[in-house]
Amino acid sequence: MLLQTALVALSATVVSAVTPLEIRGTGFVDPKTGNKFQIAGMAYQPGGAAAYEPETSGGDPLSDVETCKRDAALMQMMGINAIRVYNLSPDLNHDECASVFNAAGMYMMIDVNSPLVGEALTSFEPWTSYYAAYLNRTFAIVEAFSNYPNTLLFFSGNEVINDIPSAEFAPRYIRAVTRDLKNYIKNNIKRKIPVGYSAADVRDVLWDTWNYLTCTIEDEEDNMSQADLFALNSYSWCGPKATFQSSSYDKLVEGLKSSPVPIFFSEYGCNTPQPRLWNEVQSIYGSEMTDVFDGGVVYEWTEEKNNYGIVQIEEGVVSLLGDYGRLSAQYEKIDWEAIQSVKGSDDHPRAPVCRPSLVQEKGFDNNFTIPDVPPGAQRLIDNGIPNAPSGKLVDISNWDVTLEVRDANGDAITGLKVVPLPNDEFNWYGKNELKAGNTEQNNSNDSSDDSSNDSTADESNGESQEEPNAAMAVQPLMLAAALPLLAMVFA
Ligand SMILES: *[C@@H]1O[C@H](CO)[C@@H](O)[C@H](O)[C@H]1NC(C)=O
Ligand SMILES: *[C@@H]1O[C@H](CO)[C@@H](O)[C@H](O)[C@H]1NC(C)=O
Ligand SMILES: *[C@@H]1O[C@H](CO)[C@@H](O)[C@H](O)[C@H]1NC(C)=O
Ligand SMILES: *[C@@H]1O[C@H](CO)[C@@H](O)[C@H](O)[C@H]1NC(C)=O
Ligand SMILES: *[C@@H]1O[C@H](CO)[C@@H](O)[C@H](O)[C@H]1NC(C)=O
Ligand SMILES: *[C@@H]1O[C@H](CO)[C@@H](O)[C@H](O)[C@H]1NC(C)=O
Repeated sequence: MLLQTALVALSATVVSAVTPLEIRGTGFVDPKTGNKFQIAGMAYQPGGAAAYEPETSGGDPLSDVETCKRDAALMQMMGINAIRVYNLSPDLNHDECASVFNAAGMYMMIDVNSPLVGEALTSFEPWTSYYAAYLNRTFAIVEAFSNYPNTLLFFSGNEVINDIPSAEFAPRYIRAVTRDLKNYIKNNIKRKIPVGYSAADVRDVLWDTWNYLTCTIEDEEDNMSQADLFALNSYSWCGPKATFQSSSYDKLVEGLKSSPVPIFFSEYGCNTPQPRLWNEVQSIYGSEMTDVFDGGVVYEWTEEKNNYGIVQIEEGVVSLLGDYGRLSAQYEKIDWEAIQSVKGSDDHPRAPVCRPSLVQEKGFDNNFTIPDVPPGAQRLIDNGIPNAPSGKLVDISNWDVTLEVRDANGDAITGLKVVPLPNDEFNWYGKNELKAGNTEQNNSNDSSDDSSNDSTADESNGESQEEPNAAMAVQPLMLAAALPLLAMVFA
């Protein structure tokens, strides 16, 4: 009887799902096909860090199903296959949004931290931010997302190291948090979801950061403090004239080709000079990079004060920006079927052994004694946190987009919907054949495209041009936009 009931319950909730991916060698591999996955990702944090106020605004980017349906449909049409979300609350229900992105064939990369005090490791005096209640929060995020088949990975930290001063002690604490998350998952979670780090592409500290986090500590059981993957936020491909060489992408490939773990861009999309033509897309998914990189994440979905948006949200209405069409056009040129059919392999370069001589820059942490688990936390790691949240896929009854969307000329786009993909399929360009109206933005009213092609393409020296950081940028743009409206209402 019991078994029967269980089966009925199971069949009632069976919905199509993407296949959970596993790290093999230096790739994210689909265990059913053996194919290595190339990430075509989108950074998704509408409103930026400032909008993350779960206590008052009552939301995070994955808590409103109508918004998720709208954005998933628009991203599905471009060919996006993964989103990265920075600031999430473990106390909100993400079932519907996770189900929408799953059905649209998109994986989720989840940052376990938030911009709120006590919810992230600090770059300076990191020991002041490393305590049981902080870890409890990161474990709660893991619990909240671990049941979704489309959860691809967790980031234990984002741009905690930005220069030499911030690299004095933070590296060993990043390894400590990585260890604690991996042990938590090993002890309490059904699936081995990978844990890695998202680095600022600041070349002074990039190589040491990569080596420090991915080397193996002799005698460490199961390499638990070693990052499972290493990602970088990189803004060195700038302007229409940039090339694989001038962008210094060639140096990244050369420098990272011996990586023992997967490598990808966790953010890219330099926005100076405008317009962004997204030529780097052809390099990222081309033969010069795919042996070393597993793709990348475009920064970012919504327009915020720092001008990196693909779409703009004003008064609840989404308008496509010129970047939507230009980026789509780049994805359209790629043979995704071929790119996503390359077989994975268990082979990977051997990780270097952690020792002080591995670290090159003076002042960068070269001590590999990883801090002890803070008081009170080992119990959580061993037995699980109290009141652990738990998500699950749910049925979505209607895939139509109900919120208003306008094309690049301001005309309404109608008939948008998420196209649920068959079981085990993820998205690529062409699977949702709906058209996004006119995506050639009318330059006359495209305020973000005000610099011409004449501006000299940046001959990049390989330094980050900018470090937009959704977790850091505090931009009350939404509020500013809402004020005149309020004034009108009360006039
Ligand atoms: C740990 O997380 C759970 C789930 O979010 C929460 O109920 C509990 O209060 C947290 N404990 C501490 C000490 O923060
Ligand atoms: C730890 O890393 C080393 C070096 O890459 C590797 O030889 C060893 O198999 C790893 N151990 C485990 C348990 O994964
Ligand atoms: C490394 O750090 C630990 C404590 O974190 C300390 O006890 C040890 O002396 C340090 N080693 C060196 C060589 O400084
Ligand atoms: C472009 O102009 C049209 C008509 O003037 C307007 O409705 C639309 O919102 C504008 N689009 C953007 C993205 O600013
Ligand atoms: C540009 O916008 C103007 C006014 O909104 C419109 O009349 C014109 O047809 C648009 N041009 C193109 C090429 O879409
Ligand atoms: C800008 O430059 C690109 C590549 O050099 C070219 O394809 C495009 O037509 C140019 N656009 C304008 C508006 O001049």
